[in-house]
Amino acid sequence: MKKILEMLSEEMGKAFEAAGYDGALGRVTISNRPDLCEYQCNGAMAGAKRYKKAPIAIADDVAEKLADSEVFQEAAAAAPGFLNLKLSGKFLLDVVKTMSKEPKFGLEMPEKPKKIVIDYGGPNLAKPLHVGHLRSAILGESVKRICRYAGHECIGDVHMGDWGMPMGLVITGLKEQHPEWVYFNEGYEGEYPVEPPFTVAELEEIYPAASARSKEDPEFKAKAMENTYKLQNGVRGHRALWKHILNASVADLKKNYRNLNVEFDLWKGESDVHELIPDMVAEMKEKGYAYISEGALVVDVKEDTDTKEIPPCMILKSDGAALYNTTDLATIMERVRLYQPDEIIYMTDKRQELYFEQVFRCARKTKLVKPEMQLKFLGFGTMNGSDGKPFKTRDGGVMRLEKLVQDTKDEMYRKIREGRKCLEMSEQEAKEISDIVALSALKYGDLSNQASKDYIFDIDKFTSFEGDTGPYILYTIVRIKSILAKYREQGGSTEALELLEAGNASEKALEMTLTQFNTMMQNAAEETAPQRVCAYVYDLANALNHFYHETPILKEEDAGRQQSLIALIMLTKDIMETCIDLLGFSAPEKM
Ligand code: ARG
Repeated sequence: MKKILEMLSEEMGKAFEAAGYDGALGRVTISNRPDLCEYQCNGAMAGAKRYKKAPIAIADDVAEKLADSEVFQEAAAAAPGFLNLKLSGKFLLDVVKTMSKEPKFGLEMPEKPKKIVIDYGGPNLAKPLHVGHLRSAILGESVKRICRYAGHECIGDVHMGDWGMPMGLVITGLKEQHPEWVYFNEGYEGEYPVEPPFTVAELEEIYPAASARSKEDPEFKAKAMENTYKLQNGVRGHRALWKHILNASVADLKKNYRNLNVEFDLWKGESDVHELIPDMVAEMKEKGYAYISEGALVVDVKEDTDTKEIPPCMILKSDGAALYNTTDLATIMERVRLYQPDEIIYMTDKRQELYFEQVFRCARKTKLVKPEMQLKFLGFGTMNGSDGKPFKTRDGGVMRLEKLVQDTKDEMYRKIREGRKCLEMSEQEAKEISDIVALSALKYGDLSNQASKDYIFDIDKFTSFEGDTGPYILYTIVRIKSILAKYREQGGSTEALELLEAGNASEKALEMTLTQFNTMMQNAAEETAPQRVCAYVYDLANALNHFYHETPILKEEDAGRQQSLIALIMLTKDIMETCIDLLGFSAPEKM
């Protein structure tokens, strides 16, 4: 169905034409003076020069033509030339009714849906997930869900860091501790054990130690480089050990992401494109894009219009080893071959912006992608602690994701237990509910900010039941659920309810907020901006709560009117639940 602003602009355009002016002047927007009107049109002001008339005269002409409009209950010309508009209750009702019947509340599907690969998460094997990975996972998941809902085909790829030097470091660390392991016996030709010889917790201890040591001990570093080389070049024992690292880490990562309600379609990583690199490099050389500079193989990517220096994109190091760039370029090549996407979206910390600029330019220059294919980098800001510095543990270490999630759950549990209402809950129930609500606190706290900005992780604010928070949104949904439950207890049916015209201002305001869903969704998808969904669902929660305070629902004596109120809150609940699903969390039955 058409978006409400389109319908209103159409009606307004007709009035402009009927009064002898250009219909295009009839663009209607949401009022920025809600105390005066619901919608407004500034077309009379825009047309004044062209028609050599005072804006108020044009506005008067147009308002006259709207005197018996079925769309506007009121269209008033106001100095210096505004058209202040109020909707007819009947028209609004029709729009809400249509929305409630159409799939996706009448959201129009794109004429040409896009195929989009979304590269997010980006965990590194054998390294614990930290809060930076949290942002990528939360934002990427939401962007994927939003684009999918808007009608595009989306493929989410976790793109693990599972290749290169970190793997060499871990293997070297393991070898120092267990030189006797069969994996290090290069003459061995038999089968390797099926079970991994370590746990994920052990692995995660090895990496930081090995990484620190390589910075001080050149001999250790040289060994790690050699082991990286052996792994990449297919030495059996190294590959077998790496496979264990991969399997153990993936199982652990899947568990972590499941807890966050984050799901990937593809579990690919840098290692998956290893075989593609030699041909890609050969072609770049052959076609003259790549050349040797100070021993390394590079592609120039600077352009005449650059205002800052964009360094060349390095394809191979002087020792011939592949880099982060190399695997990213080969991954673009693979994605084009396997999926022919219209667009690839990358979700990482904004500090990787220059890096991706180089990669994108290189991919275009070397014709890995067609000119019309979009490569989009969505960089996000840092999550800071209350001191405004990157979030750390109390003793100053890097905050592990699991710890952060657990802290949020604990705080939520404390708050839920504090609430008197929950005294009758069992221990288990309180735990389950606080886990669900904690996820909303964490995700909404992140997603409600503009992604590219830094934000402060304020656990107290995020877990609050009041204000612009996840728990407040869930609380509102739970409130609707409980009204519906009581209504059913009173014997009310929720089948075939008929919506009636709004009976008071807060009901009308709720309906108007509902009708903004489509415009919001389209903008959120076009701008890949989950914060739009947050801002909308917050408005909707406020509109619902205001309406609830003004309108007795369960005490309503007129059965038809009560059914209409129930239908309205059911629609509100459906839309709110759709929104939180797009943000990647859900609501409990009670809280
Ligand atoms: N593993 C990387 C990191 O931790 C993120 C990967 C992002 N995706 C990509 N295609 N480079 O920084």
